[in-house]
Amino acid sequence: MPSITFIHSDGRRQPIEASEGESAMQAATRQDINGILAECGGNAMCATCHVYVDEAWLARLPAMSDDEDALLDGAAADRLPNSRLSCQIKFAADLDGLVLNLPDRQL
Ligand code: FES
Repeated sequence: MPSITFIHSDGRRQPIEASEGESAMQAATRQDINGILAECGGNAMCATCHVYVDEAWLARLPAMSDDEDALLDGAAADRLPNSRLSCQIKFAADLDGLVLNLPDRQL
């Protein structure tokens, strides 16, 4: 099964299974990644699914939309150049092994 590895802010690594077509947020909430809140359910309205994409994977993700870009400015944790909303990262086979770092807070 393809996987995504989440790295918690304390350094703990948590690999989970991910299915093609679901978002990284959906995979995370389905498998109780507690650093992803996803309060808006994936509608790009809350920024509580904020992640920092591992640098090695950043260029392999599709460009962010204007809505995602604007929402990231309001994320609780600092916005960094590798910030993305995990609900906007649609998982595909070529993202098997994706590494996402969790911020220290989502609220
Ligand atoms: S789940 Fe709300 S913006 Fe991603």
